[in-house]
Amino acid sequence: MADAAQQLVRMLDELGRVTDEPGRLTRTFLSPAMRRANKLVGSWMREVGLKVHEDTVGNLIGRLASKRRKARTLVLGSHLDTVCDAGKYDGPLGVLLPIVALAELKRRGVDLPFHVEVLGFAEEEGVRFASAYLGSEGYTGRLKASALNLRDAGGVTVRQVLERFNGGRFRLPKAIHRPSNLLGYVEVHIEQGPVLEVRRLAVGVVSAIAGQSRFKLTWTGEAGHAGTTPMALRRDALAGAAEFALGVESIARRTPGLVATVGSLTVSPGAANVIPGAAVHTLDVRHADDRARRRALMAIGRLATRIASRRKLTRAWQRTQENGAVICSPPLTAQLARSVQAVQGKSISVVSGAGHDGVVMSALTPVAMLFVRCRAGLSHHPDEYASPKDLAMARRVVIDFLERLAGVHHG
Ligand code: GLV
Ligand code: MN
Ligand code: MN
Repeated sequence: MADAAQQLVRMLDELGRVTDEPGRLTRTFLSPAMRRANKLVGSWMREVGLKVHEDTVGNLIGRLASKRRKARTLVLGSHLDTVCDAGKYDGPLGVLLPIVALAELKRRGVDLPFHVEVLGFAEEEGVRFASAYLGSEGYTGRLKASALNLRDAGGVTVRQVLERFNGGRFRLPKAIHRPSNLLGYVEVHIEQGPVLEVRRLAVGVVSAIAGQSRFKLTWTGEAGHAGTTPMALRRDALAGAAEFALGVESIARRTPGLVATVGSLTVSPGAANVIPGAAVHTLDVRHADDRARRRALMAIGRLATRIASRRKLTRAWQRTQENGAVICSPPLTAQLARSVQAVQGKSISVVSGAGHDGVVMSALTPVAMLFVRCRAGLSHHPDEYASPKDLAMARRVVIDFLERLAGVHHG
């Protein structure tokens, strides 16, 4: 069975070498490596007969038109950007697997009675601009003007990056599809958690995706001489940020289901003998229940106020992202579960703590997701791994799903 996945494994390996950083895998929004990734994946899409183009935010779109002109469109996909020092499955699996599944349907001579669009979203991880889903927001016409002003570490704005990419003025895109023209969106993704491994299953269906909030926080105190300024007279921005990070950790530890992370921090001026005058960091807060997440955010806000007033610091919050929890479409998920049942003999549902392009796509069309077991639940790490046998199972599920949909759906 694993043989059927060899081609997919080769593609994942080759794409996993397309990077902005020598020696480790990092691809961020519209970076040179992202441009090369779109070229490579676009060439694989063309080989199976898809018509390929990029939209104005850099999403890669491969379309297989049905012979039935009035058919609706099924969208399959995931993202091609990565975190820093990433594994090669998070994102690319959901773009490449539909391509090999469509190749197999072509080999079998199956004519689908619906159009298929395979999407390689340009940005999902939120690495470069601390705001995730720029790709799917562009595709669904939900990109906000405020997102264009976000700056990367080099001070370049989203607008500047997009104007460079488009060779001129950038206009916020409208959705290309009306909901009535779509059948739904299906995303295949590694689980990034341990449930399937514990249950000894290769694949499972996703019932819901946790909501998340992300912020950029700036703490400002006063820089000064590290040797001469007495401890009692300091306004150390990093010490405030550090106390805040530990406080957030403790709130998350005592709130069931809550996860909260300070994942990136910069200190300035940034020298061994200078008291930190400013500290800027991210904050990512998630919960499957939106009310619980909001309550936690209130507690985190009060914590920041206490720390700032005791340490005589100022703090500024910028909300860079906010997504409520998403319940996957029951009918589309049931359809996917039927294929999982048929191929694997058993189907279970799993809740996703990670965010996915499906979150944004759910505003446009019904969403279903297939999770594939990954070793030790490890992800956002170069050792991320899904076995060829499990990939082969996922491929069979997608083929079965497309064939069943073709059988039950008549344009
Ligand atoms: C995307 O990988 C996320 O941060 O959930
Ligand atoms: Mn992902
Ligand atoms: Mn990810």
